[in-house]
Amino acid sequence: MTYISNINNNMNLNKILKKNDLKRDEIEFLLSLSDPVDIQKLFEHAYQVKCNNVSNKVYLRGIIEFSNICIKDCNYCGIRKSNKNVKRFQMDKEEIVNAAVWAYENNYGSVVLQSGERCDPEFICFVEDILKAIKAKTDNKLGITISLGEQTKETYQRWFTAGAHRYLLRIESSNPEIYSRLHPSDCSFQERVNCLSYLRATGYQVGTGVMIGIPGQTFANLADDLLFFQEQDIDMIGMGPYIPHHETPTADEAGNFNSETQLTLGLKMIAVTRIVLKNINIAAATALQALKYDGREMGLKAGANIIMPNVSDTKYRESYQLYDNKPCLDENSTQCKSCLTNRVLGMGEEIEFGKWGDSLHFKARCK
Ligand code: 5AD
Ligand code: FES
Repeated sequence: MTYISNINNNMNLNKILKKNDLKRDEIEFLLSLSDPVDIQKLFEHAYQVKCNNVSNKVYLRGIIEFSNICIKDCNYCGIRKSNKNVKRFQMDKEEIVNAAVWAYENNYGSVVLQSGERCDPEFICFVEDILKAIKAKTDNKLGITISLGEQTKETYQRWFTAGAHRYLLRIESSNPEIYSRLHPSDCSFQERVNCLSYLRATGYQVGTGVMIGIPGQTFANLADDLLFFQEQDIDMIGMGPYIPHHETPTADEAGNFNSETQLTLGLKMIAVTRIVLKNINIAAATALQALKYDGREMGLKAGANIIMPNVSDTKYRESYQLYDNKPCLDENSTQCKSCLTNRVLGMGEEIEFGKWGDSLHFKARCK
């Protein structure tokens, strides 16, 4: 992947890190740092900004990837509808609710429900029913984030009323041209932006994010992504490195993919996002771990404060591979919990069990 950059090499890292409001070219400069000493300095600064604004506590969201049936055909995604080599599955209500109850009993505080995209009435009712059941079974105490793609305002409202209070909808790239390269022509960039507004108007804590290191993307594009998050007044960010999936068109453009470079770029983007947006929640995406076994923990050290351990039954995980080399396919939820806890503690971080860990940015904007 080549990165074209017009940044001014005379910029001074220490000076920029002391500033409060960073301009586009300064953001681009930080993203383009290449000297390992400078990059380390960036990560340490971002970690300090995290401690000052949201503390060093890590919040967990147990992720339940409940179906890979999808009506969309995104060019980068392993479960796109035209991939015929995926065994399609749909967990039933009991399995989903049980996974959520497991997360509750294990003090995770919150879950994320994610699936391929569908918008048929049956699916909308199914999700609504599950949200209500999880709320009832956990005494209204389990936080619920959903990540179920583009829907109508009415659907967002129904799911909100049923108990979901946070929604993740990645913009994937804030550049309309890159967006249109990543998606078939029936996907509209503007519609996705509209959905973010509907979500906010409904009352959700709104999360978005991008893929980092998409073929053809520049540092300037990533700087614009960050400014997009700021402009949209986003509460939470879930973003991770792009990783090719061998059965997708985007993988053909990915050229000589380098895991190390991709990981560093993902971490730099987390760090700069923390520095610029301060009090939002930022997830250390699983894609970081696909590139390096402790990639997610590195994400925490670069400014992330959320981890989303998988709590779906292992028998479904193999069929939910959005990209190649997805980690933790065989470890069950209990194994994931103890492995993750040990790793996070080993990094000197603390896990805040049993709390929702709402976005402080959301709280501030609702005052
Ligand atoms: N590499 C990295 N992230 C991916 N996603 C989908 N496919 C890939 C890939 N090949 C991400 C998208 C989507 C989220 C659920 O997973 O950003 O929004
Ligand atoms: Fe899944 Fe360790 S985080 S096995």
